[in-house]
Amino acid sequence: MSAPRLVVATGNAHKLGEFRQLLPGLPLASLADFPPMPEVIEDAPDFAGNAVLKARAAHAHTGEPCLADDSGIEVAALDWAPGVRSARYVEGSDRDRLEALLAATADATDRRARFTAVIAVAGLPDDAPLPPGAWRQDGCVCTRGVVEGELTRAPRGADGFGYDPIFALPDGRTTAELATDEKHAVSHRGRAARAIEPLLRQIFG
Ligand code: IMP
Repeated sequence: MSAPRLVVATGNAHKLGEFRQLLPGLPLASLADFPPMPEVIEDAPDFAGNAVLKARAAHAHTGEPCLADDSGIEVAALDWAPGVRSARYVEGSDRDRLEALLAATADATDRRARFTAVIAVAGLPDDAPLPPGAWRQDGCVCTRGVVEGELTRAPRGADGFGYDPIFALPDGRTTAELATDEKHAVSHRGRAARAIEPLLRQIFG
């Protein structure tokens, strides 16, 4: 029998690379190793629901354990929108979306914001022990990571992606001003990955 491996359910090479950095040494495979998978409609009302949809669809498609994540930014002044709609907040580029978010919050004095990520893994043994903070949902094991910060008034920093240039940490730096390792140490995705890591190492390590 071949050694167990974990398929990262994303067609996005950047995300796969990020998970390889966050979970070093684990046997991660790519969906690109399988026939093309039909697109998953991410219509759940929350991050966990969408992560579970993606993980389950990839597990059904590949027959192997699959990890998916869903993430986004939530802004206090917008009743914690755009949330699950972060990637589709407005059409166009990441830059268009962050400019739109700055415009929508131009008059807001409450600038609290947070990034959230939920990781869901489908296809694990039913009796897999849950690490602290993890939960089961629709046949998946899930973990969540959150990082709190504030929206800046203008973009700063050249690294990262998405809304990183307008998301400032308590020390004042935006997440686009952090080196990759520093970002992983504090980021929502890093926190969610570290929460599920002990279980993954037990099964795939
Ligand atoms: P998804 O998780 O691929 O559905 O996309 C989430 C969206 O949220 C991305 O397209 C980004 O716009 C935003 N986002 C998620 N995580 C980050 C991050 O670490 N930095 C900046 N933007 C992020």
